[in-house]
Amino acid sequence: MNKILIVIPTYNEKENIEKIVEAIGARMSGVDVLIVDDNSPDGTGKIADRLAEKYKWVKVMHRKHKEGLGRAYVAGFKWGLERGYEKYISMDADFSHPVAALSSLISSCDSNTIVIGSRYVRGGKIVGWDWRRYLNSWGANIFTRALLQIRAKDVTAGFKCYPKKFLQEINLNKVQSAGYAFQVEMVMLAQDKGFQIKEIPIMFTDRIAGQSKIKGELVKSAKTVFSLAAHKKIYRQFVKFSIVGLVNTFVDWFFFYMVILVFKVDTQFFKQIAKAISFIISASSNYGMNRIWTFRSKNKEIIREASKFFIVATGGLAINQVIFYLSTGIGEMRDIYGLVLATTGAVIWNFILNKKWTFKQSN
Ligand code: GDD
Ligand code: MN
Repeated sequence: MNKILIVIPTYNEKENIEKIVEAIGARMSGVDVLIVDDNSPDGTGKIADRLAEKYKWVKVMHRKHKEGLGRAYVAGFKWGLERGYEKYISMDADFSHPVAALSSLISSCDSNTIVIGSRYVRGGKIVGWDWRRYLNSWGANIFTRALLQIRAKDVTAGFKCYPKKFLQEINLNKVQSAGYAFQVEMVMLAQDKGFQIKEIPIMFTDRIAGQSKIKGELVKSAKTVFSLAAHKKIYRQFVKFSIVGLVNTFVDWFFFYMVILVFKVDTQFFKQIAKAISFIISASSNYGMNRIWTFRSKNKEIIREASKFFIVATGGLAINQVIFYLSTGIGEMRDIYGLVLATTGAVIWNFILNKKWTFKQSN
């Protein structure tokens, strides 16, 4: 058995599968190829079986139904892990991923590094796509990189090398994406788990034979990406932070009226005092709830942490004022829009500074 496994999922690739296997065999030695076929109606699975009879380094996995690209890879990688392969390549059957780049993909891959055959780094290229497909891919990349905060340039790439250690660490049963979002999810997991992500430029050539299965997958993949984002800590924290902010706005108002009701004075001066008291209470409870619930801080220096929180809040207040002035004063926007903009700006500022500064240790 070889130590490197190239996993090629196939669905209706009868024109390609034999050629790609031969091309790999002609160039590479010391690698095994696993074809994961989802019972292709065009008989790709039979061709694969023939190839496996001919070459002992070719293996085939037959699956009953078409369950998607992601599921096929998960099954293929598990098969490989059971047999102890060290490095795992994901690759299309259709020659879009250059066989010539395989050896550099493999040699750049080590136990702490996943490697992406990348179209979007210097030297990378795409040949044969019309502008629509190009725009789709480019847009999908920008969108997912921003939403999931991924640093790699080509996050949707299908040509990659993963070390065994990575696949063991992530628990393949927990991979959410059934379809094409799988590619994105794997890069996200690699980044989250602290693996190095290396991109080497490749020339991606559109397939000549057969058809792409990506049509109709775009919306599904976008949904999966949103659900991946929803599971990310930063978005959960942001939601909690906003809830805490809202709750404490009511705490503020509640104590304002309480003070006035209890002391039964309603001179302007006393109202200002009541406002100050309610602010101190709500700001403190705001701090406390964010410390305990949003950021789960274990920092012992509470005074220091609380001071930072108040400094950030003061900055937030200033930003609130500035945005409101710019939008309604100079920009002549209606007040309600100005308020929405100002509050949004202040909340985002408060959140980012508290996350990156006040509660830095909890990240
Ligand atoms: N077993 C199995 N099951 N194989 C599948 C399935 C499935 O449901 N869907 C697609 N495949 C196989 C195809 O037969 C092909 O070998 C490979 O997976 C990739 O599918 P393509 O249809 O060739 O995808 P593409 O070329 O449009 O998309 C490529 O670029 C994308 C980024 O732009 C792929 O490399 C994607 O992984 C990549 O995200
Ligand atoms: Mn392809």
